[in-house]
Amino acid sequence: MSKPDPGTFAKDFRNALGQFATGVTIVTTMDRDHKPVGVTASSFNSVSLDPPLILWSLAKTANSMPAYQNSGGFNVHVLASHQDNLSNQFARPSDDKFRGVDWKSCENGFPLLPEYAALFRCKTTFQYEGGDHIIFVGEVVDFERKDLPPLLFHSGRYADKRTKGETDIKEPGVNLADGTFSNDFLLYLISRSHFQTSNPVRQAASDIGLSETEYFCISILAMNGELLEEEIISRLEHTGHIPDSDIFGRLERKALITRERQSAKISEQGRNIFVEFLSLSKSLDEQIKKHFTPEELSNAITFLQKVIDITGTDIPELW
Ligand SMILES: Cc1cc2nc3c(=O)[nH]c(=O)nc-3n(C[C@H](O)[C@H](O)[C@H](O)COP(=O)(O)O)c2cc1C
Repeated sequence: MSKPDPGTFAKDFRNALGQFATGVTIVTTMDRDHKPVGVTASSFNSVSLDPPLILWSLAKTANSMPAYQNSGGFNVHVLASHQDNLSNQFARPSDDKFRGVDWKSCENGFPLLPEYAALFRCKTTFQYEGGDHIIFVGEVVDFERKDLPPLLFHSGRYADKRTKGETDIKEPGVNLADGTFSNDFLLYLISRSHFQTSNPVRQAASDIGLSETEYFCISILAMNGELLEEEIISRLEHTGHIPDSDIFGRLERKALITRERQSAKISEQGRNIFVEFLSLSKSLDEQIKKHFTPEELSNAITFLQKVIDITGTDIPELW
């Protein structure tokens, strides 16, 4: 083993350390003015299982040092592979690192980022001198793991994203023998996304005493103008909503539709409610889209349209 060259020691040392591939985290806390603080750190590591302890270290020159030394705790967000831009955002000194980040304050009062591969909420238990860094040891109060590939850092750069052609798609985790499935089962993911994304509107409808079938009926009418009641029933049945015989009477009594002979039409009040719900959906749509690149979104749209085409050849257009 050759002796380190004093002239190039710092660079050689850093390069040698860079051979140790790590994940990347963003550690957040609050400063004494209750302003959110965050830094990108790859020095995170596990320390102890019992009690559960982790560590990370921060350069003494970091602007955020006083906040971590005095706040009493922090949240460690282990980043997912698509979060390299966020990592860069928190690695640049700035007064407003949380710009454009939809963070919230979690129970311990420290900032919680919307996305991560894993989260460790910690109480600061020890702070050690470590040369030009301070080593923070945190006791893990609680943690969460998501099924996302981690962001990796190696030799001063993010590890290459997946090489072309390589995919993560495994056999769906369905076990017919014992009647179970894992959370990479595509149909489970599709129905769960549908359930979660339609929840705000379902909730808003239920708050004003509208059933899901009634809401569907209103939306079909809002999009189509006047329709024969039997036509509405046929479209509703394709969505899995079987209307009862009084549905149109009820909607008329609630002043949400008007009826004439065998046809129904949305009323002004019905349209206002529909527009209100549509704006709820639109704002959730915008929130969700912020988390994806244009390419990911375009692939997702193609994917979902194909699923709809493949599985619904005999279902008429609903709207
Ligand atoms: C991938 C990556 C990992 C980093 N890891 C650390 C680290 O473990 N400790 C550290 O002090 N700085 C680390 N940095 C640099 C800090 O994120 C950066 O200097 C930050 O701006 C310091 O915070 P400040 O804004 O409070 O000064 C890392 C940067 C990158 C890009």
